[in-house]
Amino acid sequence: MYTEKVMEHFRNPRNVGEIKDADGIGMVGNAKCGDIMKIYMKINNGIIDDVKFQTFGCGSAIASSSMATELIKGKSVDEAVELTNKAVVEALGGLPKVKVHCSVLAEQAVKSALYDYAQKNNLVVKGLEDFNPDEDVHEH
Ligand code: FES
Repeated sequence: MYTEKVMEHFRNPRNVGEIKDADGIGMVGNAKCGDIMKIYMKINNGIIDDVKFQTFGCGSAIASSSMATELIKGKSVDEAVELTNKAVVEALGGLPKVKVHCSVLAEQAVKSALYDYAQKNNLVVKGLEDFNPDEDVHEH
């Protein structure tokens, strides 16, 4: 049911933890399953120097957050905004259909942290103009 990559990131998730003086923090939850994901980012000159996550949720959510943080670490804010849940699923070698929403949570958590960073620094980030951090996570 799960790919080797999903199992590997679930058993040995990358970038777990908290960044005390984070420049952007995003927290999202899925109303249906009750799982919660929090992402912290350290951003310098528009580059994500460090990113960490805490996920209280299912295995796919943990694997998705682990992969999402790996995909955006060292990237620019503009590049990270473009991270889609599809890219996370692809990098994991696929997720079962009923677990795709877990990857959506990861995409939303990343966007939410970037939104927080933009708000705190009075920045307009392309791609986040219509982002609503309080919107319920839905599949797309
Ligand atoms: Fe809710 Fe996976 S079942 S995030």
